[in-house]
Amino acid sequence: MPDISHLCTLNIIIMKLATKFIHAGATPDPSTGAIMTPIYQTSTYVQEAPGKNKGFEYARSQNPTRKALEEALAIIENGKFGLAFSSGVAATDAVIKLLGPGDEVICGNDMYGGTYRLFTKVFEKFGIKFHYVDMHSVDNISKYINSNTKLIWLETPTNPLMNICDIEAVSALAKKQNILVCVDNTFASPYLQNPLDLGADIVMHSVTKYLGGHSDVIQGCLVMNDADLREKLYFLQKSCGAVPGPMDCFLVLRGIKTLGVRMKAHCENGKIIANWLRNHPKVAKVYWPGFEDHPGYAIAKKQMRDFGGMISFELKNDSVEEAKRVLSSTHLFSLAESLGGVESLINHPASMTHASIPREERIKNGLSDSLIRLSVGIEDADDLIEDLKKAIG
Ligand SMILES: Cc1ncc(COP(=O)(O)O)c(C=O)c1O
Repeated sequence: MPDISHLCTLNIIIMKLATKFIHAGATPDPSTGAIMTPIYQTSTYVQEAPGKNKGFEYARSQNPTRKALEEALAIIENGKFGLAFSSGVAATDAVIKLLGPGDEVICGNDMYGGTYRLFTKVFEKFGIKFHYVDMHSVDNISKYINSNTKLIWLETPTNPLMNICDIEAVSALAKKQNILVCVDNTFASPYLQNPLDLGADIVMHSVTKYLGGHSDVIQGCLVMNDADLREKLYFLQKSCGAVPGPMDCFLVLRGIKTLGVRMKAHCENGKIIANWLRNHPKVAKVYWPGFEDHPGYAIAKKQMRDFGGMISFELKNDSVEEAKRVLSSTHLFSLAESLGGVESLINHPASMTHASIPREERIKNGLSDSLIRLSVGIEDADDLIEDLKKAIG
């Protein structure tokens, strides 16, 4: 189990965010003093005698670079334990494997398409039942709770409609009935929101996004406070084997150091672009939780420190052809899946990130064929606006 007690002497647990992002998990290498945790590119470790080792036996179970990263992930999410996985969906997969046939999960009807695909196409056939519901109101969620409910899966803000769910209220409801709450915190990142502080049991990240921050790694993680839960999830991590390699762990350790400055810039640019889009005569609707008339604004203000750089919008000419024309006309915003990197991306959820959701389901839940999603990067905002201005016309 990663031991973070040495960090308590540095008071890192109570340090401010910007300091935590730089110092979390960064203990000088014991053999050389290297300030950056080395990439321990090894599959196994030599043992002095059978069962006598230095705490590392086989790299699927433990790796020093991964250990440093898992400590860092725990610290920046205000948790006790972190576990890194080979992707965000691998982390989600581990959480659902805590459950068994007959168990039920309540989750949002607006979430990342790959999570929906994992639930519907992989886990439903093993007898786990998922309720895809409108998570705006706690009363609505409580309608689906019964004695088989074992997990509430929250994504907030949601991908791609930027809906907000009240983590504290849902966690309080779940706690009364012994139901686990896992929050996909990918869109917010720990810079904006710490779900464990609000009562959630597990935080999940697609580390691929803001934590990595440079579009060069696929990775996921889980962070939790409960030691038993950590043991169960560690058992799944090692038994199912979806672990990240040491090079990827190193890249994420490096990425986390600049999370504070990057997120500040993403939020500043996000605000400028959301407001610019909203005032554009050809834009019909902008989805961004920082608008005071966003239905989740009050909750977002309560549980987030700022509103982030993810924005979706629809054009007044709502034809798919017009959306595709805009999507193909930007130059600084690259047309690509993913988000959270320093460079701006533009995406068409209906045909890209959310293509695995059946069209009728998508439309019913408000995800139109012409919705455009932006991951606003940290370039100069004037240049980004110029790019969008030319593309929208
Ligand atoms: C909100 C959200 N959760 C989970 C995932 C899955 O993460 P990964 O692609 O790292 O497996 C994604 C990927 O886009 C995502 O956007």
